[in-house]
Amino acid sequence: MSTSPKKGFRRRLRHWWRQVKNEQATPRRLGLAVAVGVVLGCSPFWGLQMILAVSLAWLFRLNKLAVLLGTQVSTPPFTPLLIVGTAQVGELLLRGRWLPLGLAEVRALHASDLFANLFFDMLLGSLVLGGALGLVFGAATSALVRRHRERKRTGPELSDDEVDALADRLDRLPGQFRSYGSWKVKLDPVYPMALARLDGARQVVDLGAGMGLFEALFAARNPSAKIRAVEWDERKVAMARMLVADLPGVAIEQGDARAAELGTPDAIVLFDVLHYIAPAEQRRWLERCADALAPGGVLVVRELDSTASKGNLAERLDRWAVRWGWNRGAGVQAWPIEEMTALLRDRGFTVEVKQAGKGIFSANAMVTARKAAA
Ligand SMILES: C[S@@+](CC[C@H](N)C(=O)[O-])C[C@H]1O[C@@H](n2cnc3c(N)ncnc32)[C@H](O)[C@@H]1O
Repeated sequence: MSTSPKKGFRRRLRHWWRQVKNEQATPRRLGLAVAVGVVLGCSPFWGLQMILAVSLAWLFRLNKLAVLLGTQVSTPPFTPLLIVGTAQVGELLLRGRWLPLGLAEVRALHASDLFANLFFDMLLGSLVLGGALGLVFGAATSALVRRHRERKRTGPELSDDEVDALADRLDRLPGQFRSYGSWKVKLDPVYPMALARLDGARQVVDLGAGMGLFEALFAARNPSAKIRAVEWDERKVAMARMLVADLPGVAIEQGDARAAELGTPDAIVLFDVLHYIAPAEQRRWLERCADALAPGGVLVVRELDSTASKGNLAERLDRWAVRWGWNRGAGVQAWPIEEMTALLRDRGFTVEVKQAGKGIFSANAMVTARKAAA
């Protein structure tokens, strides 16, 4: 498939940004890079700090962006404080006294002596004061990066290559769907969580598949498996078909997923789709899916856990999405997760429930139900 210059540029930009961001990016190396940048930022090499930062980063194999960030320690309003601080520390260490600040004392010095003294004072001062500040900022960076990554790591993740490949596919879609898709995949843990649970699945059916994000991710990770998606909104069906055009294992069908022929797949997924109908009908639909699954098969459902929702903001957002026509459905009616899991356990399934959302979506839950083997 040929790529337009604009799309090619976007792809190169993404690739470049990822490289810059991920270069030598362990918490320790990022802390070290910031520390080196801080020392440089305190040094009297004004006008050369950027070139020196990039050169040192290259020489010591550090993250260039983090070194450049560290040099920002000397941006206003801190510049005068650092100049005076480094000069005083240097003078104290070189000549055992504080730098004379009175006008008469300064006038008494020859201009060349004044600048040479100041330069060497600041150079030494930047190593000592900058070193101390570098230690503080570097340690803080390292700790913050480590904490941020630990908090972010709530479960399985998509690899950078998977995210890049999906971004390339999203480039085929109109802007509105492209942006929605790329944000959804960045923010919503449903896809990596489900992919981990479908490891080894050969025949998958996705009911209410939307614009085919899961199909694109699943088929790229499992090229020899088959995934069938059913969606009734024709705009989304068109988007899904464009998204997976080069993935032979995917079939996108337009129609009412409640009545779709299910066959005997080894996995059925329903992400955020049950709640568009009344609970009694959700129950019948789920029973139908449970019965269709092959022995040992897995049912993966993501739904809002109405008992855990915070002020129901996520539910209200979904109601608006239905009203605006973004999601086609009759309304939003969350069915308590315990009732869903009880139904599945009664039918002999082994059930696991996990939180599957962040922030205002933290009440989202993923139900993974495995049917007994024959
Ligand atoms: C919130 S979206 C989720 C899309 C997709 N499952 C995902 O997580 O990326 C719900 C989708 O289900 C579709 N949908 C709802 N009821 C449906 C039905 N009975 N048959 C087919 N699609 C349905 C809607 O059109 C919408 O695209």
